[in-house]
Amino acid sequence: MAQRGAGYAGLGVLDAVCLPGGRAVRLRPSGMRKVSDTMLVLMAEDPDCDVQAESCLEISDGLLSIETRVSHAGSGTLHIHRCAAGLMPLDDWSSDVIVSFGAWGREGHSSRMPITSGRIQSVSRLGRSGFDGSPAMLVCERSADAENGRAIAAHLAWSGSHSVSVERLPDGSTELCAEALYEPGEIQLATGEQLVTPKLLIAVAENGFHELSDRLHAFARTRSRAVSRPVHFNTWEARYFDFTEASLCKLAEQAAELGAERFVLDDGWFTGRRDDTSSLGDWEPDADRFPQGLSPLIRKVHGLGMTFGLWVEPEMVSRKSALYRAHPEWVMGYPDPDAPTGRNQLVLDLSNTDVQDYLCETLSKCLDVGGIEYLKWDCNRELYPAVIDGQFCAHSQTLGVYALMERLQSRFPELEIESCASGGGRIDFGILPHVTRFWASDSTDALDRIRINKDLSRYIPIEMIGSHVGPSPNHMTGRMFSMRFRALVAMFGHFGLELDPSVLSERDKAMLATSIKVYKRFRDWMHAGRVRALPVSDEHLDVTLVESIDAGHVLVRVLRVGMSDRPVQRKIAVQWLQPGRSYDVWEVALGGGQDIPIGRYSAEGLAWSGLDMDPGKPNQGRLFYLQRLEATP
Ligand code: GLA
Repeated sequence: MAQRGAGYAGLGVLDAVCLPGGRAVRLRPSGMRKVSDTMLVLMAEDPDCDVQAESCLEISDGLLSIETRVSHAGSGTLHIHRCAAGLMPLDDWSSDVIVSFGAWGREGHSSRMPITSGRIQSVSRLGRSGFDGSPAMLVCERSADAENGRAIAAHLAWSGSHSVSVERLPDGSTELCAEALYEPGEIQLATGEQLVTPKLLIAVAENGFHELSDRLHAFARTRSRAVSRPVHFNTWEARYFDFTEASLCKLAEQAAELGAERFVLDDGWFTGRRDDTSSLGDWEPDADRFPQGLSPLIRKVHGLGMTFGLWVEPEMVSRKSALYRAHPEWVMGYPDPDAPTGRNQLVLDLSNTDVQDYLCETLSKCLDVGGIEYLKWDCNRELYPAVIDGQFCAHSQTLGVYALMERLQSRFPELEIESCASGGGRIDFGILPHVTRFWASDSTDALDRIRINKDLSRYIPIEMIGSHVGPSPNHMTGRMFSMRFRALVAMFGHFGLELDPSVLSERDKAMLATSIKVYKRFRDWMHAGRVRALPVSDEHLDVTLVESIDAGHVLVRVLRVGMSDRPVQRKIAVQWLQPGRSYDVWEVALGGGQDIPIGRYSAEGLAWSGLDMDPGKPNQGRLFYLQRLEATP
């Protein structure tokens, strides 16, 4: 088995030693077990240390998953320093890697790099999957593009520290390795104990990146609960911490009037929370703001025909909080009284079952009032120092988060959870079975979101990407965009609003209300559909096509994202329609009124000659609806 202790130059599968004695584990293949037609287990062992390892490969819902299990039957303690979920040799056609990078509010920058020599790595060491996007990597042949060429996607289903890497070794071979990262001493197995790694998920395509995304999206849809996607109204960028029960009721009325279907009360609702310096951990409605608890507001929201959602950040505690005063020993970093804070907060140790019990009871008490269907679950800082009483604990923290979500969902089976971590800091297939959507970024800037959502949608289906119409000027970037442009961008995701309706002009309100109607009209089929980025020669155009799963309905969104220094491209070749079929084409009337008929065209005509879809000036856009005719006339 590929192991450094046995002379292998790459990362290898396992680095472990048995103590006392200090002997490095050396695994030798010991057999193979076919569990079913779709599952195979490769076995290895080190009889001297009484260590067994299994690599479990399974094909499920179109993806290959690999996980490693290490069992220790010997005496003493097995110290595991590293254990890959999967280590795969790559074929010679693998010549490029596509990997994402990002930072807070600036997620979604991807880069394509040639594999030359050495390692290309996507890594997070701070206990969350991180702003770089999913713990994932795409490997392809040099000529691969959206529709051509061989490609594989590797995604580690894990929300903690990780490494996903591709390395060309001195002997010319290339390996892909994905693993959860462990800190020194973090994984120790006593006699009879076992480590099970997270799963490495592999998608394979022969025809480019779209096929790869189709497979990943189909898989993601089987792993997350199927839910309807109501239009959200989120209070954060509308009010931040500045609200009363009365002003929230007013906001709810305005949101409902615009067409929102779920009202999400963001940060600031719990005891003493007036800014980000205090109160995390004290998960009870603030008595000054909500003298009778949240029920009157929830009733109001329900009365307006909307469901109700609530922001929480369960893993965190503020120094200024009753919880911290009562239990300073529950905090990562303990017993250091000066453990560093991030956004003025500390991290609770969720590997401690007392902490889990407390959070489960406190959050259940909140949910017990009834009528809270949705939690926006935040995690606004990384885990450091991820140490408690001298023991590293980030790995069990991630398992603790999953366990807490599971416990709450078994008590409240209808509860939906959104994964947010200062925006896009925790977006991965590990947390996916517990959540129904992801907050992609704290940037609601429309131009930023085109890039961020697109990058994320390589792995995550668009309906799981929370996408809100924010204020103009945008609070993060200061840029101004028309309501039409902001709405068009948000529409190709899980649509929401996050702005103050009372500062909107009547014209903008009307545009927003119509856009919401447009979203509602198309969402059912869009949210099960396929997404394609249409190739254009004008780099200042962004053209995205969404097609229903039966290919009968198509939307094409054309956005101008910059000023061209050359004559602009007006005609767009609409590819990927069904050959031999014809389509009726309309321009969707975003400002209201009837759609504008454009004409009837064959798929071939649309692909070769295209249509004039010029969106006009920078930061303007148009939307076209194509309906396939049942039979070619
Ligand atoms: C994070 C989230 C925001 C908002 C704030 C509240 O930054 O990403 O959307 O919920 O926390 O404090």
